[in-house]
Amino acid sequence: MFSSSVKARLLASGVLVLAALGGPAWAEPAPYLDPRPSVEDRVDDLLGRMSLDDKLGQMTQPERRFVTPEEITRYGIGSVLSSGGSAPSPNRAEKWADMYDGLQRAALAGPLRVPIMYGVDAVHGHNTVVGATIFPHNIGLGASRDADLVREIGAATAEEMAATGVDWDFAPCVCVVRNDRWGRTYESFGEVPALAARMTTAIEGLQGEELGGAASVLATAKHFVGDGGTEGGRDRGDAQISEKELRAVHLPPFRAAVARGVGSVMISYSSWNGQKMHRHRYLINDVLKGELGFTGIVVSDYKGIDRIDGRPGFTRDEVASAINAGIDVAMVPTEWRRFIRYLRDEVVGGRVPMSRIDDANRRILTKKFELGLFERPFADRAYLKTVGGAEHRELARRAVAESQVLLKNDADVLPLDDEDKIFVAGRSADDIGMQSGGWTITWQGEPGPITPGTTILDGVRKAADPSATVAYSRDGKGVDESYDAAIAVVGEKPYAEYHGDRTGGLGLDAEDLKTIDRLRGAGVPVIVVLVSGRPMDIAAQLPRWDALVAAWLPGTEGAGVADVLYGDADPTGRLPVTWMRDAGQQPINQGDGKKPLFPFGFGLTYDD
Ligand code: GLC
Repeated sequence: MFSSSVKARLLASGVLVLAALGGPAWAEPAPYLDPRPSVEDRVDDLLGRMSLDDKLGQMTQPERRFVTPEEITRYGIGSVLSSGGSAPSPNRAEKWADMYDGLQRAALAGPLRVPIMYGVDAVHGHNTVVGATIFPHNIGLGASRDADLVREIGAATAEEMAATGVDWDFAPCVCVVRNDRWGRTYESFGEVPALAARMTTAIEGLQGEELGGAASVLATAKHFVGDGGTEGGRDRGDAQISEKELRAVHLPPFRAAVARGVGSVMISYSSWNGQKMHRHRYLINDVLKGELGFTGIVVSDYKGIDRIDGRPGFTRDEVASAINAGIDVAMVPTEWRRFIRYLRDEVVGGRVPMSRIDDANRRILTKKFELGLFERPFADRAYLKTVGGAEHRELARRAVAESQVLLKNDADVLPLDDEDKIFVAGRSADDIGMQSGGWTITWQGEPGPITPGTTILDGVRKAADPSATVAYSRDGKGVDESYDAAIAVVGEKPYAEYHGDRTGGLGLDAEDLKTIDRLRGAGVPVIVVLVSGRPMDIAAQLPRWDALVAAWLPGTEGAGVADVLYGDADPTGRLPVTWMRDAGQQPINQGDGKKPLFPFGFGLTYDD
């Protein structure tokens, strides 16, 4: 069964216990490898067999491009991540499963055979995988107000992840966006804590009733805490707010996430009143782990410990202060060897107590045992058929329809009649990349046919009667008075994180405004469908539009937009964020006394 050298190593690590009755018969596996004892007993047994280096390896998370399988074995690496867009080639689900299984075999080749976890940002479906179902981004799900739908989306995402082996999802973002200038506005379910708290049902979908069931992955509530409350909406900025406001606005979704059993929490890059979250002992140790009773894994953000002192790279002091503050896993994508060396020095030097290392390992190992990784370490390829499958796409289409918010509908121009003669225009009308936004195949997302799906134009064509005319030109050229209505699908180009911060205007760009004007020039009713990650500054143009639908970032199932435009689904969405009258009003939120264009919770129906 084992070569003599491997037997010697396994014996040395005590993994295989000699039968009491003499003779080196290979008998009972070590207790931690036996699924019958309690998780706590298995953790105790394994922890007792681990060296300091074994424990440091479990706390280290490299990015897949910067670590080899052999190094995973040698260093006992505990987890690996794909950063945004980091995929095997060809980028298909089966190839992901092969990649994951290869890395897992390397981990299991170590003396203690501790499996890895593999983390990705599956923030609106398994969105790094070509062919996966891409669901609406969180701001659209917030508009749906449908917490059960969000749970279903979590479960569908977990199935598509399980097919590829990936078992740690850096989602849901439970941030509370307070300034729409923030580039991560669309990752928020909305501007009020109660909405984000309600949508933590995503965690139950991702993890299942309890960790370790079929298609159960570790969820991550992020980013702890106050990332949506920074001055000016600057990503990774400083939340200059009282503790009262921090606790009232930004903490409740984490309290809800912990109550739902979230397995991990990611720390925010941002600061609170000048103190970096990645070294915030009070908020991580005392509030999250103490007051909220969080017993899962606290993971840093990507190179999050590098940014503590504001200078590139990390120092021994940054490593010690982050780990002592309560971070259990460091996302150190490239400099992971130096992280291990520094942390070893800090432990040996007495600046990081062994009790902290053991606590971190206890948390990590507990989740691995609960996930069932010691028993079922490999991809569950039975789920491959669910990746981008009809059932999940139907769910996504329903989510798209539920997320549409009807903001204006003069003369009941909507719903359209399926025999109407329709002209469709706009750079976001026939473009999967534009309607999916950031975190889609690549980190920033990009325009174009980046993954299989149904564009909004495709959806309109399918909703219309086969005898009806549906014309399209991106810039609107060719429209004339013979059409019953014109639809301009416009909005924002894809972006993610700080690339989406908007310190200046929040209006439509010249191309989109020109397209809309061309349609108006034909003298036909103009319906604007806004594909954006946030409210936009459109008050000045709105009087000349006959109808306006906020479509947010729908993902691959654009037919859900057409379902509402043609009345196959009623518009039921309600604004998850206050809609500014002009960009100068930012931040503008419910109850702040400012007069918005549309208030939080606004949304028309076809009965209005
Ligand atoms: C990013 C994001 C975080 C993500 C992590 C890993 O910078 O801040 O949301 O989970 O890195 O991709």
